[in-house]
Amino acid sequence: MRSVRTADEMSRLSTQWRRAGETVGFVPTMGNLHRGHMSLVQLAAGRADRAVVSIFLNPTQFGEGEDLEDYPRTPEEDLQKLREAGVDAAFLPDPREIYPEGFSTWVEVEGLTEGLCGRFRPGHFRGVTTVCAVLFGIVRPHFAVFGRKDAQQLAVIRRMTVDLRMGIEVVAGPVVREPDGLAISSRNGYLSPEQRRQAAAISRGLRRAAEMAAAGSRDAAALEGAVREAVAGQDQLRLQYVSLVDPETTEPMSVLERTGLLAAAVYAGETRLIDNVMLEPAPKRKNGR
Ligand code: PAF
Repeated sequence: MRSVRTADEMSRLSTQWRRAGETVGFVPTMGNLHRGHMSLVQLAAGRADRAVVSIFLNPTQFGEGEDLEDYPRTPEEDLQKLREAGVDAAFLPDPREIYPEGFSTWVEVEGLTEGLCGRFRPGHFRGVTTVCAVLFGIVRPHFAVFGRKDAQQLAVIRRMTVDLRMGIEVVAGPVVREPDGLAISSRNGYLSPEQRRQAAAISRGLRRAAEMAAAGSRDAAALEGAVREAVAGQDQLRLQYVSLVDPETTEPMSVLERTGLLAAAVYAGETRLIDNVMLEPAPKRKNGR
């Protein structure tokens, strides 16, 4: 595996592969790789001739008072995991490689970024789309893999690649969970043992909503209520939002008439956790039976 530090070297390598007729799959990450990331890496490595993973803690997607300084950094362990997964190149750029002197272009997806997390993290998605646009320009992948846990990010990146005709397929990877259902995240490491125990209530609430939908419940307030209730029973959790939305547009849905995304953000102490589930409406019974 090549460890690449400069944008020029990364672009040269990718161009070489593309010229040889090889496909390039890409997984952008901020490092501290866990099982969730590695499932995306495996997806990319299994589908492409060449797999590239970037490790770049992107400062522009963190707001004031967020955890940029404390974000776990584990580059040596990360590189070892990527080597074992058969990745061809790990791209670890210095911030100056991504945001050189004079950098002044920002990519902003409107509408889709206003609700859900966007409402509480102003500027976050602008940082994400900008860094991804820059990374895509350097790596020039055929496809890029993003996890479904960050469902709004996935929708926003898809929109950006379509609107800007980037010619990059966005592939969605699964939410990977701990045995008690908690979605795996680098931020889980911040939790105290009690917060960690209580945090499982988030996925319990989402699962309950999925059961309700399967049993015929279509009312958004009732489905959202399952998550509210599960979280309310835990004294160290505080719900920031729970919302049933269209997975592509992130527009709120009041009734589950087609596939919906039920997304939630919850504070466990100071740690903000997100999770979601896709809900399918149960088929309507004929003749009211
Ligand atoms: O999901 C993440 O880890 C980040 O938002 C990403 C896509 C690597 C951009 O910095």
